[in-house]
Amino acid sequence: MRKLGMNELRKEYLNFFGSKKNHTVLKSFSLIPEDDESLLLINAGMAPLKKYFTGEKKMKNNRATSSQRCIRTGDIERVGITERHGTFFEMLGNFSFGDYFKREAIHWAYEFLTVNLEIDKNLLWVSVYENDDEAFDIWHDEIGIAKDRILRFGKEDNFWELEVGPCGPDSEIFVDRGIEKAVDENDNKPGNDDSDRFMEVWNLVFTQFNKNANKEYIPLAHPNIDTGMGLERMAMVLQNKDNIFEVDVNQNIIKEIEELSNKKYKENKKDDISIRVIADHAKAMTFMVSDGIQPSNEKRGYVLRRLIRRAFRHGKLLGIEGEFLSSIVDCVIDSYKVEYDELTNNREKIINIIEKEEENFQKTIDSGLDILNSYIKELKENNKDILKGKDAFKLYDTYGFPLDLTKEILDENDLKVDTKEFDEYMENQRNLARNARKSDAGWSLESINVDEFKQTDFVGYENFEINSNIIGLFDSKEKVNFIKKGHKGIIVSDKTSFYAEGGGQVADTGFIITDDAKARVYNVQKKKDVILHYVEVEEGKLESCNALFKVNKQRRLDITRNHTATHLLDQALRNLLSDEVKQAGSLVDEYKLRFDFTYPNALTKDEIKKIEDEVNEKIREQLPVKKEIMSYKESEKLGAIGLFEDKYKDMVRVVSVSDYSKELCGGCHVNNSSEILMFKIIQESSAASGIRRIEAITGKKVYEYLNNNIELINSISDELKTNPKNILSRAKSLNEEIKQLKDDIQKLKEFNEKDIYKDMESEVKDINGINLLVHKFDNEDLDTLRNFENRIKDKYKDLIIVFATVKDNKIIFTASVSDSLTDKYNAGKIVKEVSKITGGNGGGKKNFAQAGGKDISKLDEALEKVYDLI
Ligand code: SER
Repeated sequence: MRKLGMNELRKEYLNFFGSKKNHTVLKSFSLIPEDDESLLLINAGMAPLKKYFTGEKKMKNNRATSSQRCIRTGDIERVGITERHGTFFEMLGNFSFGDYFKREAIHWAYEFLTVNLEIDKNLLWVSVYENDDEAFDIWHDEIGIAKDRILRFGKEDNFWELEVGPCGPDSEIFVDRGIEKAVDENDNKPGNDDSDRFMEVWNLVFTQFNKNANKEYIPLAHPNIDTGMGLERMAMVLQNKDNIFEVDVNQNIIKEIEELSNKKYKENKKDDISIRVIADHAKAMTFMVSDGIQPSNEKRGYVLRRLIRRAFRHGKLLGIEGEFLSSIVDCVIDSYKVEYDELTNNREKIINIIEKEEENFQKTIDSGLDILNSYIKELKENNKDILKGKDAFKLYDTYGFPLDLTKEILDENDLKVDTKEFDEYMENQRNLARNARKSDAGWSLESINVDEFKQTDFVGYENFEINSNIIGLFDSKEKVNFIKKGHKGIIVSDKTSFYAEGGGQVADTGFIITDDAKARVYNVQKKKDVILHYVEVEEGKLESCNALFKVNKQRRLDITRNHTATHLLDQALRNLLSDEVKQAGSLVDEYKLRFDFTYPNALTKDEIKKIEDEVNEKIREQLPVKKEIMSYKESEKLGAIGLFEDKYKDMVRVVSVSDYSKELCGGCHVNNSSEILMFKIIQESSAASGIRRIEAITGKKVYEYLNNNIELINSISDELKTNPKNILSRAKSLNEEIKQLKDDIQKLKEFNEKDIYKDMESEVKDINGINLLVHKFDNEDLDTLRNFENRIKDKYKDLIIVFATVKDNKIIFTASVSDSLTDKYNAGKIVKEVSKITGGNGGGKKNFAQAGGKDISKLDEALEKVYDLI
């Protein structure tokens, strides 16, 4: 057997099928499936090639080979616990799209294993689908495998399929790794999934069917071949390792984890679990981020978030302080860059995104873990085994613990969580957010009973002022006959022109006026189709009678402009970015519109400009805006965009801006796009991870905005003593002047520092062959400390530096240890010990760390401690 490294094995395989057997060598596809809703992540070598098997797509050459990166998360909880599970792996494969079939696939597999990899043929066993005599005969008659080494299995074992797509019977190849790896005396032939003795190394699928969404198997026009060999698994067999974590590439990653954690793999079972989790997840996260996935609370983003947070927590379990994943990710990139040059190109992006997620989680994980541990303690003390959904929700909501992470930690303690209750809380939170502004001091919607009223007729789309009958009055929770001057209450009428808050649009305001009274309407809400006007009576005594319902028209028109502009914005985003952009919340009021949508990246200036241009163009095109009531089915035919909840309604209202935008919406809109007047984006920001937020203004507000900006420019030019035309050049020259001045200051400072530096050199002490420098600064910042450290570091061998500075009444400590000393001294531990004396804390890596301190009176004592430590 040849002892090939993983990278060598990949090369050998691709070269065998590429050069010798005339296959097109494909680069691994992205982990994000293209045009395939049935899959979250690519999970097999054939997955990105489905359309070639079905004939929908064609390649010039009908044979291909690849080493495809894959992620399988089905067993994520098992990763780490066992030695064989991983979420990330590479699959080597050779594919025929209606070209060669069984005979060649079997012959070449055998040739590659026995000739290229030099595996002894007596170690090979195979299995075939129960009635596949053809494959059986090829293995026996042509290859010469003994009959008792060819096993026949049923659909469960020898038929390969995904949820939907190309599939067929298969033939698996096993390597006998020796009796010493057998689980028991019956483990003498393949078939036992727990066996490490007969390792399945290759699966040859004879792809003859296409399974559709109804689970029907439709024969394909031509038979195909799809084979899959786990790269790590094969490398493990060749390298005669016990598990995938011990193959060469993984070894580098494990070494890095050992170094960071000061733990050794294979010394302690619990630590081994954590080391394996980090090693596996680091690979998965590196490739996922490189392929453009961002951590979020949905779909692929959630898988990624879960992997990062799970790995981070296992780092904590190993005792690694602070953020650490980037150095492991770095090592993953170096280990895989031979094949994946995109990793090197994306290095900075990958590290940034992972570090950011780690940083977010780091802020809350400790408190979250403390709380979870206290829940666990309490459950155990009370002999209970189910954590309340409410508590799990708190961990999710406040401390960023994905539910699965909570579940996993509970599982380690033989406990469970009430997921049903968790889901209820989740739903509740969504409702709460929706209703957040709906309650009012003194009474909430919940306490008002509206059962006696019929649906209020809303006639406010076209009318601002109407006459209607007041049919119910409430004061606080109680139904009353009248509301007096200076009191607040709620009014119900049979019809109204007031729009109740809904669909992201704020409530109308205005007045309800009777012969005897005048009440100001400051909020309008809907409960079970009954519209509730929140009023404060300003004059007289308000009673049940006919009244004038008068909406603040100018305000409503401004709101209307913003609402229609929101629809235009939604469409422009879809046109420019992707059809995948989904609304994730909106708010429309008289001042501005706010639109949240799913999108992984911040928009560029150029994108913002394009969107703004498109919306303004649609305004200038004077497009008619139509509002129609129709069945949901009809609206679907029109392609109207709607929120999920709309699907439950029979009749819906479709608002269309000519053919440009069609949305299901119950809100108030202009009649022609030109009424919006103008549209300006004033901010683009992140609303939550994976969700962007755009804020924009329309109409009069744009005019005010422009005027304000012009005034600002005028005042700036006055201040800079120039005119608006020249302010830019003036600002530039001022900046240069400032830079020059800063340089001058820096020079003076350096002059001064030279003296300090000289002093410092005289402070370096030789302690048992180690150069130790301890120095206290006054009122310097961290940058200055690091500057000095960098300057002095290279001058001395075997140097340990501990600096302290007092700034703004706080102490900062730094420690740095030459790499030659890091096996004995750890900067993280040094600062930790030292800062502790002053009531502070901190940590970091072995070669550099920093900490904060509090009690300045103990600073000298703390620095003395360094000498003791060394
Ligand atoms: N599709 C098969 C598998 O994933 C062979 O490539 O095992």
